[in-house]
Amino acid sequence: MKFATKAIHVGELNIDGIRPVINPIFQTTNYIMDDEAYEKLVQGKSREAWIYTRLNNPTRRAVEEKLASLEQGEDAVLFSSGIGAVAATLLTFLSPSDHVVSSKDLYGGSFRLLMELKEKLNIGVSFANPMEPEGIIDSATPRTKVFFFESLSNPLLKPFLIEGVVDFARRRGIKIVVDNTFLSPYNYNPLKNGADIVVHSITKYIGGHSDLIAGAAIGSKEDIEKIWHTMITLGASPDPIQCFLIERSIKTLAVRMEKHNKNAQRIARFLSKHSKVERVIHPSLETYYEYEYAKKNFKGGGGMVTFKIKGNDQDGIRFMRNLQIIKEAASLGGVESLVSMPFNTSHTSLSKEDRLLVGIEEGTIRLSVGIEDAEDLINDLDSALRAL
Ligand SMILES: Cc1ncc(COP(=O)(O)O)c(C=O)c1O
Repeated sequence: MKFATKAIHVGELNIDGIRPVINPIFQTTNYIMDDEAYEKLVQGKSREAWIYTRLNNPTRRAVEEKLASLEQGEDAVLFSSGIGAVAATLLTFLSPSDHVVSSKDLYGGSFRLLMELKEKLNIGVSFANPMEPEGIIDSATPRTKVFFFESLSNPLLKPFLIEGVVDFARRRGIKIVVDNTFLSPYNYNPLKNGADIVVHSITKYIGGHSDLIAGAAIGSKEDIEKIWHTMITLGASPDPIQCFLIERSIKTLAVRMEKHNKNAQRIARFLSKHSKVERVIHPSLETYYEYEYAKKNFKGGGGMVTFKIKGNDQDGIRFMRNLQIIKEAASLGGVESLVSMPFNTSHTSLSKEDRLLVGIEEGTIRLSVGIEDAEDLINDLDSALRAL
C-alpha cells in the first residue's frame, strides 16, 4: 500500500466479528483478567496483554500500528505529548555519566530537557551543527550513547545530514534519534536513511488541527519495547479519546501535507522577492543550505518557512500584529497559518548570544503555513510587511 492508503486503512480493528468502518474509542481504564492475561503478566509480556490502559489500549494500539507503517518502522508507541516522547526516548538510552550529541538549533523544550539531564543526571551534552557530520563525530566521546537531532531544525530548518554519521554510530553502538516533527512522515522517513528511532510531536502536522497534544516514538520492535517500558513507568500515556482524534487526523495527513508543501513553496518564493525581507529559508528554494539533498530526500519542503525581516525583534512584533488572517501563536502544523518569533516563544531558553551563534538573528519570524488559499495568505503577508 502507498502512503495515503496506509494512512486510512492500516490498524483497522476487528473485534469479535464486529467490523466498524471507524475504530471505536475503548474508553476503559482496565480489562477483565483471565488466565492468558495473568500468564503474560508473569512472563513480563504485559504489552501483549489487555490489563490496564496506561499499559495498552486497542484504540491506541491501532494508531501505533498505523504510525509505524507510515514511518516505515516495525513498531511505535504513543505518548501524551511530544516532549514526553523525546524525554522517554532519551531516558531509555542514557544513564548517568553517559553523553549525548545534539544541536542548539533545536526545539526550546528539548534543549531545556537536555540541560535538566545534564544537571540532574550528570549526562554530558555536546552541541554540533546538524549539517556537519564531521563535527558531530568529533564531538562524540567513549560515553556517547545518543545522537539527537531534528530532521529539519527548529527554527532555522537546517537538515540533519544523517548519512554522514550512520556508519560511525553503528560501530560505536550509538542510537540515532531523529525528531521528524517539522517534515512529518509524509515528506521524509529518517529510519530509511539510518535513524534508529524517530520521535514526533503529534501535536503538530500529524494532529494537524491545533486541538490535541500528543507524541510518538517509532523504531525497531526491540527499541520500542524499551521505550514503551519507560513510557508506562513515567506515566506518559495518551487517553483513548486523544488516540481517536489522532487516528482521525492521520487519515487526512497526505492531502494536508500536499497543500502545506505547495502553499509554503509559493509563500517562500513570494517572500524571497519582497523588499522588506532580508532572508528566507525553505527547502524548496535554490538558496537553501542543502537544496540538492532536500530535493533528493524530502517529498516536499514542508509547511514551515523561516524568514528575517529588515528590522529588529520589535519590528517583527509589529509585523505580526499587522497580520489579519495569519494568527500570532506558538505551535505549528495546523490547518490554520500561525506566526511566531523564536526569541520570545520556542527559544527563550537560549541566551541572546547563543541564539545569534546558531543564526537566530533579530527579526527572525517562524511562519507555519496552513492550508488556506495561498493568495489570501500572500496578500495578508504583503499588507503587513508594507505597513512596517
Ligand atoms: C520539533 C518539536 N519537537 C517536540 C516538541 C514538543 O512537543 P509537544 O508540545 O507536543 O510536547 C515540539 C513542540 O513545539 C517541537 O516543535
